Amino acid sequence: MNSTEIDNRIIDGKGFAEGLRSRVAEEVTALKASHNGLTPGLAVIIVGEDPASQIYVRNKNKQTIEAGMAGFEFKMPEDTSQADLLKKVLELNADDKVHGILVQLPLPDQIDEHEIINAIDPAKDVDGFHVVNSGLLATGQKAMVSCTPLGCLMLLKDRLGDLSGLDAVIIGRSNIVGKPMAALLLAESCTVTISHSRTRDLPDVVRRADIVVAAVGRAEMVRGDWIKPGATVIDVGINRVPAAEEGKTRVVGDVAFAEAIEVAGAITPVPKGVGPMTIACLLQNTLTACKRQNGLEAD
Ligand code: GUN
Repeated sequence: MNSTEIDNRIIDGKGFAEGLRSRVAEEVTALKASHNGLTPGLAVIIVGEDPASQIYVRNKNKQTIEAGMAGFEFKMPEDTSQADLLKKVLELNADDKVHGILVQLPLPDQIDEHEIINAIDPAKDVDGFHVVNSGLLATGQKAMVSCTPLGCLMLLKDRLGDLSGLDAVIIGRSNIVGKPMAALLLAESCTVTISHSRTRDLPDVVRRADIVVAAVGRAEMVRGDWIKPGATVIDVGINRVPAAEEGKTRVVGDVAFAEAIEVAGAITPVPKGVGPMTIACLLQNTLTACKRQNGLEAD
């Protein structure tokens, strides 16, 4: 395979996300002009010092501001109590300047994650994690949809067009990616399989797939010979592994990229694949939430 053929197989999530962010920014400008300065506002709460979470939150805030929205960041200490975190969420629910609320996961052990997420006003739940939103999605109704699966779906539709009738295998059953991804692909009339750590003969299950979504968090677990020739592979994994150079690390996905690209019809790289789509979708969800809360039509 020559380098052009290889390039054509790579799904450019970074480029797609840049386009989406600039479309959102344009809409924000138009909204401000037509509605007396109405500015979508996103509040992010981070509890503790998890280094990966700190980086995500910094990026989220930067891109929120770049899109012309208002960003509110709340850093709470590692030993924050359930009651104090709940109080902050309820405060933000009542704040008219805040249209989207995101509580960065994971949360420290003393916090009951479900109780916190389900305390967020579903209309402000831009992560789509509230039971109301996951229930709306599961039953085919208008919902706030989780950002990572939404980004994956956009990339798939952009590449493949109509997904109807395709065999989709999702690896991973998390509430953040696997389960909402299944609901979205089912709504697109795919035949959906959710596989996970207990699945028997996982390579054989994956070999059936026209669409593979890998979201397990295990570095390069999915091998090239698991991929059906021509399949579209979406790699959600972000795994830090030792680099060749002593003491350095590099980021790889859940898919062995160099092997899989030889077989796949299309594949997202890591980095620059799904990752940038997540924040772009978060901004889009915040804009949507703002419009809906102000009685404006939003899709
Ligand atoms: N931690 C990892 N991914 C996510 C996400 O999409 N939303 C939140 N809130 N926390 C996360």
